Amino acid sequence: MSFLKVLALAAVAALPLSAFATGGHDAVGCVGCHAIHTAKGEIIFAVNANKQVVNPKTKQPYSGTTALCLGCHEESSKGGQGYAPIAGHISHPYGLAQVDAKIAKVPGELLREGGRFECLGCHDPHPSNPYYKYLRVDTAKGSKMDAFCAVCHPIKADVATVAERAVLFTSMDETGNRVLAPKSAAKEQKAPAAAPADGSAPKAAPAKKKK
Ligand code: HEC
Ligand code: HEC
Ligand code: HEC
Ligand code: HEC
Repeated sequence: MSFLKVLALAAVAALPLSAFATGGHDAVGCVGCHAIHTAKGEIIFAVNANKQVVNPKTKQPYSGTTALCLGCHEESSKGGQGYAPIAGHISHPYGLAQVDAKIAKVPGELLREGGRFECLGCHDPHPSNPYYKYLRVDTAKGSKMDAFCAVCHPIKADVATVAERAVLFTSMDETGNRVLAPKSAAKEQKAPAAAPADGSAPKAAPAKKKK
């Protein structure tokens, strides 16, 4: 057995629930996040919400879907399961009840429950998301990060980047397609044309998820 295979098996064994595929949330699988029988609340989640970590902005524990992500993506000493702990990659604010309009202009479709800004504002965690780190836009594997930042901070980004209008990915409408056209920009955006109604990936997106 190859060293890589041993590593992969070790990673799978470390998961709380059955996981057969490899890589990110492919390995977690639908039932790693959603439980059919023993759900813990919202969107029939399979993990306990993390109520231990305090949001430095609000001084309250995180709630909603953010607390669910943190149920896995936080150190075990902080109520998580230690998978790619959030502190290791981001100091950007998240888990906010509302957004200060002077700081960010978040497309309404990326907010939750009456204006909350969660992890889901930047990530669509479903295995169908073809983009780098499950981000909402194609960043060419992280090399074009300005296009991503420009989604919510357009006045900070250079004009050419904003004009490109990054296509937003969503997996949340089974009757629609995988493109999220912000209502604010719906008139100008060519999203519907770029997105086949059969639910296949938008033309702007790579057909297969790249690891
Ligand atoms: C990493 C965790 C994760 C995995 C893996 C995952 N989901 Fe989800 N799922 C979520 C989150 C978070 C939401 C809420 C997303 C939102 O509001 O944008 C959600 C929402 C949904 C919804 C919509 C529920 C509603 O009320 O509208 C369905 C259906 C769903 N998931 C099915 C699946 C299926 C099927 C799979 C496997 C192919 C899967 N999920 C894998 C986290 C996950
Ligand atoms: C059941 C546990 C679990 C939950 C809940 C969960 N994740 Fe994950 N996630 C994982 C695992 C395991 C990995 C792979 C970690 C690694 O490779 O070290 C991962 C990887 C990721 C990655 C990196 C993907 C890549 O390509 O490298 C992102 C981004 C991510 N998760 C975001 C989220 C977000 C956002 C949520 C909440 C909606 C969430 N996760 C909820 C277990 C989970
Ligand atoms: C402002 C946007 C933003 C928010 C909010 C956000 N992330 Fe991320 N996340 C990113 C970006 C950008 C990356 C890729 C960083 C890189 O690799 O350059 C990333 C990467 C990740 C990774 C992969 C880390 C790794 O080591 O590969 C995980 C896991 C993750 N995010 C989970 C989360 C969770 C959980 C939340 C909420 C608690 C969250 N993110 C909130 C932008 C965001
Ligand atoms: C999906 C929307 C979204 C994306 C994408 C996004 N941000 Fe933000 N950003 C926000 C929100 C929301 C806030 C907090 C606003 C508030 O305080 O109410 C914020 C705040 C900030 C702040 C101020 C931090 C502070 O502590 O006050 C900086 C700096 C920032 N973002 C930089 C970035 C960078 C760099 C990127 C790209 C890597 C990025 N953002 C991507 C939504 C976003």
